[in-house]
Amino acid sequence: MSNRMWGGRFAAGPDAIMEEINASIDFDKKMYKQDIAGSKAHVRMLAKQGIVTQEDAEKIQGGLDTILSEIEEGKFQFSRALEDIHMNIEARLAELIGPAAGRLHTGRSRNDQVATDFRLWVRDAVDDIDGQLTTLLNTLSRKAETHAADIMPGFTHLQSAQPVTFGHHMMAYVEMFARDRSRIRDARARMNECPLGSAALAGTSFPLDRAMTAAELGFDRPTANSLDGVSDRDYVLEVLADASICAMHLSRLAEEIVLWCSAQFKFIELSDKFSTGSSIMPQKKNPDAAELVRAKTGRIYGALHALLVMMKGLPLTYSKDMQEDKEQAFDALPNLSLALAAMNGMIDDMVLNTKVLKKAAGSGYATATDLADWCVRVLNVPFRDAHHITGALVGMAVQKNVELHRLSLEEMQSVEPRITDDVYSVLSVDKSVRSRESYGGTSPVNVRKQARRWLKQLEKETASK
Ligand code: ARG
Repeated sequence: MSNRMWGGRFAAGPDAIMEEINASIDFDKKMYKQDIAGSKAHVRMLAKQGIVTQEDAEKIQGGLDTILSEIEEGKFQFSRALEDIHMNIEARLAELIGPAAGRLHTGRSRNDQVATDFRLWVRDAVDDIDGQLTTLLNTLSRKAETHAADIMPGFTHLQSAQPVTFGHHMMAYVEMFARDRSRIRDARARMNECPLGSAALAGTSFPLDRAMTAAELGFDRPTANSLDGVSDRDYVLEVLADASICAMHLSRLAEEIVLWCSAQFKFIELSDKFSTGSSIMPQKKNPDAAELVRAKTGRIYGALHALLVMMKGLPLTYSKDMQEDKEQAFDALPNLSLALAAMNGMIDDMVLNTKVLKKAAGSGYATATDLADWCVRVLNVPFRDAHHITGALVGMAVQKNVELHRLSLEEMQSVEPRITDDVYSVLSVDKSVRSRESYGGTSPVNVRKQARRWLKQLEKETASK
């Protein structure tokens, strides 16, 4: 049998392989809600414009409501022969209400229909991610406030560099995730145009009110060019690009968590809720959630790459290639949401070993820069010379296998005779972090200020919702 939705000119039905490669229903049924919302908005507009009768429009809307509950109750029979969610729903509508169902597709094509449904789906996913990023910003800022004065080693090249505060480290991620949130908000604003009414590609001769359907579906306006309306997939690409950057940030933090809770670092303790045990080594507590957050990055980048490659050679307008866009986004975006939720739980629950962190902060000559700065300030030598003096002192400490503050004044003076007792006042990690009060620096005062600024801002956002 040829397809009952488009089979007018076909004598024979498709080969089984054709059906298999062509059908998208197995995955695009995820968009049933968006498809029904789009159809309801479309038919309301058709009735208002006098393109279909009020009576038919009501029948169609009633039928669509029935279909919605059938799907939600798991009673709907999806059929591969009907290819996709659009035709599955329309065919069922015909069974339910008869010939009036055929009027729904007036002034519309599956090309603008799928473009609309998918935009709505991506927009919902973006709103979920936005909410999850907001929660994470909150959790990180609270953690930062709690640990504004707890000292840890700051690293470059994964070598102990200078002491910083744990709160400062958390606030660095607040900045990163805040940019992620602002990026997806930008993408949301740009994508919020409605392609419905572009029809197959050229627009339609029916007097549609595209502004009305756009408004009903929560879009800011209709898309301005029908060719672009059916063939644009920038919205999902942009969101996947933003998702990729966010996944990269999550992965860096996840990697730090993996390091921090290792026996070698012992900086933090992950809660039992976000770790697993080993089936053979009873002593182990593995940071699986962090590892999986790190791993999710691969499929999210993969989705972006797959879609960019899929789109790059397509002439305008719609080509069936584009059907491949959905599985990528359906996989990548919920996985990003999951990774954000898991990260939020880990951060919320983790416990710091503040003593270990502080001790580690003091090792590796982490206050060498403070010593050099002291030479500049007190001895009034140029920084390059101070760097040289400090280097010699570090060399001496390495040779004697002691920390910097364990060098005696005589030993220090053997390198630079003008050094005084006062130098010891800058060699402690507490003094070091407290002194870094320059804007954006790691001092506890700064960190507290930044964390509170964010918490207030986030509170204001929720209050105004
Ligand atoms: N299932 C199709 C997709 O996801 C819907 C659009 C089909 N349009 C067409 N002209 N065959 O892209």
